[in-house]
Amino acid sequence: MKIVKKVIKKTLRKIGIDRINKALKSQGVKYELAKTGATYYTYYWRKATKKIDLKTLPSFWEIASMVIDDQRTSLYYDRLYTLWQGVLSVPSFDYPLAEIGTYRGGSAKFIIETMKKNGYKNKFFVFDTFEGHALVDQRLDGKHRVGSFGDTSYEEVKAYLNSPNVTLHKGNFLETAQNIDHITNFGMVHIDVDVHPVTTFCLKFFERRTLPGSIIIVDDYGNLSCKGLKKAVDDFVQTNSHFKMFYLLTGQALLVKVNNVEAV
Ligand SMILES: C[S@@+](CC[C@H](N)C(=O)[O-])C[C@H]1O[C@@H](n2cnc3c(N)ncnc32)[C@H](O)[C@@H]1O
Repeated sequence: MKIVKKVIKKTLRKIGIDRINKALKSQGVKYELAKTGATYYTYYWRKATKKIDLKTLPSFWEIASMVIDDQRTSLYYDRLYTLWQGVLSVPSFDYPLAEIGTYRGGSAKFIIETMKKNGYKNKFFVFDTFEGHALVDQRLDGKHRVGSFGDTSYEEVKAYLNSPNVTLHKGNFLETAQNIDHITNFGMVHIDVDVHPVTTFCLKFFERRTLPGSIIIVDDYGNLSCKGLKKAVDDFVQTNSHFKMFYLLTGQALLVKVNNVEAV
C-alpha cells in the first residue's frame, strides 16, 4: 500500500497539479487538487461524502456567493463558513463584533449580511487604513510591504457596506483602536491584517476586551507568506492561558476565550 501511495504521489507531481486540475475542470468535475501543503489526495478526498456540503446551506451559500462574485475578498466558501459559524456563536445583541483589515470590504460585507439574515442587530466596528499596510516588520513579514493593499477607498467601501449598525474607522489600528477602547465585551473579532506588528497589537488589545466564550478568528495563520502573523499568534497563545487556539483546516486560527484576564 505504501508503495502504491508513493507511486501515485510521484505520478501526480510529475504530471503537475495545474494540468490535472485543468483536466478535471474540462470534465466538469467540481473539485480540484490543493496546490500546497499536505497530501493532496488524502484528507481532501477521503470520505468526502461525510463532509459538509456548503451548497446545501442555502442562506450561507447565497451570501458567500454574492461576496465572492463581487470580487472584494480572497476568502472562499471554506473560510467564509468559519465566519458564518463565528457570527452565529455570538450569544446576544449586546456583544459587538469587529474586523481589523477590511481592504475592499468583502469579508465585512459577508459578516453584515450574515447578521442580517439571522436577525442580529449587534454593532460592528470595521477598521482599515484604506491605504494598505501601515507597519511591516521586514525581518518577519517576508514580501509584505508598507502600502500593499492600498488600492481601495474608504468612501467606496463605506457605500458598499452601508448598514446602520456598522461604523468604519480609517487609519492605523494602533491609533484608531482608541475609538473602541471603552468596549470590553466583543463577541467576535476577525483579524485579517497579514503582518506581525498589527496582529500582535490586535491580540493584546482584544485580550481584555473579550469575555469567556468570545472568539477571535485570525485569517492566514497557515498562509506560508504570512509567517510574521503566525509568530504573533503563536507567541500570544504560548504566554496566554485565557485563550485556547484551534488551527483550522482552512488555515485560519480560531482563538476561544476560556476565562477572564484578571485586572493588573
Ligand atoms: C488581506 S487585506 C484584508 C482582506 C479582507 N478582510 C477581505 O475581505 O478579504 C489586509 C488589510 O489589512 C490592512 N492593514 C494592515 N495593517 C493595518 C493597520 N496597522 N491598521 C489598519 N489596517 C491595516 C491593510 O490595509 C489591508 O487592507
